[in-house]
Amino acid sequence: MTIPLITRLVHYFNVFYGYAGKKLFILSTVILLGGISESIGLSMLLPLLSFNEVSETQNAYCRQIYSFLETMGIGVTLWSLLTLLFIAFLLKSIFIFIQEAFSAYITTNLVKTIRVMFCSKYEGMRYDFFTSSNTGYLNNVITIETKRAVGAFTKYIEVLINISFVLVYISASLFLEWRLTLFVIVICGVIFILLRGLSRATRRFSVLISERNAQIQSLLIQTLHNFKYLKATNNFYLLFKQLFHRMEQYRLYHFKIKIMAAIPKTVLEPTTIIIIAVLIWYNIVFRGKMMADILVLLIFFYRAFSRVFSFQTSWQKFNSSIGGIEVVQKATKELEQNQETSCNQKAVQFIKHIELKNVNFSFGNRKVLSNINILIPKNKSVGIVGESGAGKTTFFDLLTGLLEPQSGHIFWDGIDYRKLEKASLRSFFGYVTQEAVVFNDTISNNISFWQDCRIDSVRQKVESSAEMAHCTSFIQETNDGYDTILGDRGVKLSGGQVQRIAIAREIYKDTPIMILDEAVSALDTESEKNIQKSIKKMKGNRTLIIISHRLSTIKDCDYIYVFSKGKIVEKGSFDELYQNKNGVFYDMCQMQHFGASGVHNSTKPV
Ligand SMILES: Nc1ncnc2c1ncn2[C@@H]1O[C@H](COP(=O)(O)OP(=O)(O)OP(=O)(O)O)[C@@H](O)[C@H]1O
Ligand SMILES: [Mg+2]
Repeated sequence: MTIPLITRLVHYFNVFYGYAGKKLFILSTVILLGGISESIGLSMLLPLLSFNEVSETQNAYCRQIYSFLETMGIGVTLWSLLTLLFIAFLLKSIFIFIQEAFSAYITTNLVKTIRVMFCSKYEGMRYDFFTSSNTGYLNNVITIETKRAVGAFTKYIEVLINISFVLVYISASLFLEWRLTLFVIVICGVIFILLRGLSRATRRFSVLISERNAQIQSLLIQTLHNFKYLKATNNFYLLFKQLFHRMEQYRLYHFKIKIMAAIPKTVLEPTTIIIIAVLIWYNIVFRGKMMADILVLLIFFYRAFSRVFSFQTSWQKFNSSIGGIEVVQKATKELEQNQETSCNQKAVQFIKHIELKNVNFSFGNRKVLSNINILIPKNKSVGIVGESGAGKTTFFDLLTGLLEPQSGHIFWDGIDYRKLEKASLRSFFGYVTQEAVVFNDTISNNISFWQDCRIDSVRQKVESSAEMAHCTSFIQETNDGYDTILGDRGVKLSGGQVQRIAIAREIYKDTPIMILDEAVSALDTESEKNIQKSIKKMKGNRTLIIISHRLSTIKDCDYIYVFSKGKIVEKGSFDELYQNKNGVFYDMCQMQHFGASGVHNSTKPV
């Protein structure tokens, strides 16, 4: 049983070494020094107890201490023995303080280091991996499991402390009375074997707790995200049924772990007393020794036992937090395997065009885009139309390098996307996503992305961007104007207002390429017309790529591509496409009452 224990100890030492580095060795040394100082102090008790005895009647151990002190040039007086006793315990206290301060330093740093590490791994993870991950799990890893893992580290330190002290006490006891000490070691071994099942079960429950934690977080996030729907439809109870079930399992596992932790605490103290009592009885009745002779030995044994038992408790507590380490390790490995490949070539300028050549993309076995060929010249506008699920947003995901085509190429001024550092590429894009993105902060921070709005130039740019996105009228109606807090995902605004704030932010960013995915879908005809005027202003000095179901939004684009079932079925200008009376585009125009040159037939309902 000791082999798996040692293997585990070494394994987790390596794990923590990976995070804490050499500091772990320093900490272990300080712990050991604390144990040695305490043993020296305790050892001083023996010569002190037999100080008045004649030299021949003193045991070998006392005589050795005396001769050691004499070789050190320290006279054996009551005073020198007491001073040594004091120094040894003082040193022990100092080492314990250093050890506590140092382990506090390591643990607090560890929480931060692991969280920072996860943040950068989250930033670098591949988009397709993110879409197949569970947000609850990712959130749980960085918040709860990281803390549990570091909590396990604290328990591990306790385990190390207890082991060090046990080893020091046992060595000192072996020196004093090796036969009795061997007997005590055997008894400790038996106790361990008896309690081993508890540690195993605790480990198993710990992993289950981590799983439940992730599920609870996931359900909680979904409940809060969809609060409005759940409340309006009185559907909370359906989600809560699952949530409460998980919470009950979580409670049960915790309860079992706590009960298992209570067992050794209850059993071990009386066991120690029984063993010590047996030892006293054996030494005094059978061996005819004096109590003073065996007192120090008994103190060592008592201390060793207490440490063995606190080892058992801390080992079990360590096992109860192991789930945290395992989740942190698993998540780190998964994230490392799913990082975006790093490329060295930076996109430094945009001169000519972006070109997609024979691009094919599938989600798993499901083909979503087939043989896509599109040329997007600089400062031209490109409109994309097509039925729902045709692959339009996926095309944007390819364009921004979030997804990589399985075959075919995308070129940035002739450079293959595969060679480009994606962060540099993405800095050229302004992107109004299909589900407009706003943050729970002020309107000005949402537009400027936390640039300091007290600076006049920033403030002016925020206001002009808001003006271009036709936000001014509704901002003026709010009590706090640009300082109005938008609420989570913009709950304090209408859908159309959220879209306009998202557009204002991208206008503020002033990037060479602007992509808009159904950016005006929630707007009324009047607001849409106003935004179109702003888009028109951008034409010619910015590259625009616009996805829209509404033909009114894309009618003025230089090129229009019609997507259907992942393929480009038609392309050309509005008028060219309108000529093909058998085409999909012509049908769309008919449905939306558009005539040639994008003129809307207003006598018919839109
Ligand atoms: N992460 C994903 N995993 C698997 N399939 C996906 C994923 N994202 C999208 N799809 C599928 O890919 C197809 C194209 O989706 P996409 O979002 O590109 O359509 P779209 O043309 O933008 O539609 P809409 O007009 O409704 O926004 C859809 O059939 C969709 O179900
Ligand atoms: Mg879409």
